[in-house]
Amino acid sequence: MKNIVILISGGGSNMAAIVRAAERDRWAERFSARIAAVVSNKPEAGGLAIAATHGIATAVVPHKEFPTREAFDEALAKVVDAHAPALVVLAGFMRILTPGFVGRYAGRLINIHPSLLPAFPGLHTHQRAIDAGCKVAGVTVHQVTTELDHGPILAQAVVPVLPDDTAATLAGRVLAQEHQLYPRAIAGWLADTSGHIL
Ligand code: GRF
Repeated sequence: MKNIVILISGGGSNMAAIVRAAERDRWAERFSARIAAVVSNKPEAGGLAIAATHGIATAVVPHKEFPTREAFDEALAKVVDAHAPALVVLAGFMRILTPGFVGRYAGRLINIHPSLLPAFPGLHTHQRAIDAGCKVAGVTVHQVTTELDHGPILAQAVVPVLPDDTAATLAGRVLAQEHQLYPRAIAGWLADTSGHIL
């Protein structure tokens, strides 16, 4: 069985979309894969309760309790490694990871970023896209490397930027696409690594 560990920091709507897709599309039977655990750096992350209702193991590694980024990442890796993950999925996980953590999961660590990378890495992507006068925006699923919001692109989806858009309305349109794209990209990764054709 291929274990997937999902890291979150907040509401976990992307995580929930992935969990629903795994159930609906029978990833266990098709890819011999399952969501083994959901781990948050914030105890108050709403996504933890959602994961629990699906019978998924949850854990919290509160970053505030660690003196350094390295110490936090080491503790996080211990929790993640307990599930022997084939794939580690960052889904709204709002921490910059150390090169040590990224290297440990090289080739099996992916992220979703709400912009058309390489445009607008980092925060406030939607406002920056509006301010730049972009006519389209979107979302990117990519492999994680040591450079923030870089790394080989696995999948992208595009949405229009409408004349009256605010950062909030654009974020909502992009998020709806995230919920479609991330499960599809993970299924693609699972199909590739198990030699299946989707
Ligand atoms: C998403 O837009 C994600 O791409 C970004 O933060 C948001 C998190 O949403 N990094 P959720 O926690 O998956 O609901």
